[in-house]
Amino acid sequence: MCGIVGYLGSKEAYPILIKGLKRLEYRGYDSAGLAIHNGETIRQYKRKGKVSKLESAAENQPKEGTLGIAHTRWATHGEPNDVNSHPHTSTSGRFHIIHNGIIENFDSIKEALKKRGYSFQSDTDTEVLINLIEDIFEEGDMPLEKAVQAALNQVSGAYAIAVIDNENPDLMVVAKMGSPLVVGLDNGHFYVASDATPFVEYTKKAVYLEDGEMAVLRRNENISVFTVETDSPVEPYVHQLTLDIEQIEKGGYEHFMLKEIYEQPRSIYDSLRGRLLPEEEKIIMRGVSEYKEKFLNADRIIIVACGTSWHAGLVAEYIFEEMARIPVEVEYASEFRYRNPIINENDVVIAVSQSGETADTLAAIKLAKSKGATIFGVCNIVGSSIARESHAGTFTHAGPEIGVASTKAFTAQVAVLTLMAIKIGYERGNLPKSEYIKYLHELNRVPDMVEKVLTCNNDNLYAIAEKYAEAENALYLGRGVNFPVALEGALKLKEISYIHAEGYPAAEMKHGPIALIDENMPVVIIAQKNANYEKVVSNAQEVKARKGKIIAIISPDDTEVRRLADHTIEVEETYELLSPLLTTIPLQILSYHIAVIRGCNVDQPRNLAKSVTVE
Ligand code: AGP
Repeated sequence: MCGIVGYLGSKEAYPILIKGLKRLEYRGYDSAGLAIHNGETIRQYKRKGKVSKLESAAENQPKEGTLGIAHTRWATHGEPNDVNSHPHTSTSGRFHIIHNGIIENFDSIKEALKKRGYSFQSDTDTEVLINLIEDIFEEGDMPLEKAVQAALNQVSGAYAIAVIDNENPDLMVVAKMGSPLVVGLDNGHFYVASDATPFVEYTKKAVYLEDGEMAVLRRNENISVFTVETDSPVEPYVHQLTLDIEQIEKGGYEHFMLKEIYEQPRSIYDSLRGRLLPEEEKIIMRGVSEYKEKFLNADRIIIVACGTSWHAGLVAEYIFEEMARIPVEVEYASEFRYRNPIINENDVVIAVSQSGETADTLAAIKLAKSKGATIFGVCNIVGSSIARESHAGTFTHAGPEIGVASTKAFTAQVAVLTLMAIKIGYERGNLPKSEYIKYLHELNRVPDMVEKVLTCNNDNLYAIAEKYAEAENALYLGRGVNFPVALEGALKLKEISYIHAEGYPAAEMKHGPIALIDENMPVVIIAQKNANYEKVVSNAQEVKARKGKIIAIISPDDTEVRRLADHTIEVEETYELLSPLLTTIPLQILSYHIAVIRGCNVDQPRNLAKSVTVE
């Protein structure tokens, strides 16, 4: 996710752009840049790092002008560095673009443009788009907005773009598909941004472009909006904004954590997009394919991670062993690195890390690498240390996760690891083609199923949270691939509400924790109808017999557990190995509501940090 800002009017653009970028840094902070037209020419500044780095670079430079575009980047294609930063310029230097989104077919377009003599300075898909626009503009002898329109009809993917022309200081062309773009209007001033945060202090009048729409902003004229595909004019609806700045950054949610919980249909979809192709019966994962032999011939997969990422690794253990029949060990990175582990050249070590900067995980893969293992990184931040240290990898496209308690990164990790396991299992010949195809289609349904879980349970979960917000302890139980989900649910509760909570394999309860159970102990049980359902029912009966309060995640048609439980949360059934992507969601929401009721700092819990870069 990136942030875009633009301005066209009678005020100096620079301060508006810089302030606007700072308001959007929550959307990504790998690099930042801007381009300003001073009436004669466009000057461009861009730097790796946060907006403050850009400010320093532009400090003593000429930057006057009343037309400008600016961008703060969260890298998807191309590492975070100056060259890959936006804005990007066409080969002739005439056109400048900022872009939030992913152009999926940029590879083929880039090859075609190279054959037509275009050169590229960066690794980004965005630079391909601006050169496609220039190519069409030059060939077609048409106005810029028509060239932009024609180019967008050739690309597939997501975009929110703003384009300006070195030979026209009175024009900005913007367009939207899949990524947000809003235009603020104020008596001849146009403000363009990813959300209203950058301009809500100047104007409360805003036009939210819809997918497939573009707008032409001309100095001293009204906005004109039309559809990219059919060139049909659109009468723009002007919203009167009521939100304050703080709320808008959170998209109207009270906390980043809640926003990120509700972003999961999108973040899972983005993490699968371009990789999961059920209609073509394909999984495209370049990193896995480049190291296919290593995976196919692996004696063992070792997954190293910490915290929530370690839980994602535990989920992956069940899925990899079931689908690929490769022995998997999941290690706390901090333990692995210090115990002189036995590592062989036929081992594949998968490092799972949202930040890509966790010190113990980084140290663990350096150790494994030094002993000849193949290192595969699953990170959420492009260009992060763990991603760079790995031989290969695949990124989760969850977008920046601001809340310290990890939510959307976890499900994105599980989705990507599941995709890897299905691909490797099939290519190793362990997963029959019929099963392979079934899983492709079912995994493709997960974003919609997550959406349904999110929309059907909130009130029920809030009511449960009210009952147990004062609990001092909690137990989370799950079996099989939902045992790691029990651990994750317990971690969420303890790290944001400070209630002591433990996750356990449901069968292990009898080996000790059952002594804790009394009428004050809430026990969360993941009890969907699957292979071990009857055994989980027995566990629920054991809890009930000791007056424990049961909060059960159940299948919609369940009767047995429903009868035993004090509270039930219905979650749509899917294949058991895919169920963690769904059963985790209510546990995230439950912990969120309990923490809010307890008045805890949900986004920045005490004693915690988003990235543990120290040992
Ligand atoms: C999860 O909610 C915590 N914030 C923490 O356990 C986190 O998962 C752990 O520190 C690992 O971080 P990483 O994924 O960035 O490596």
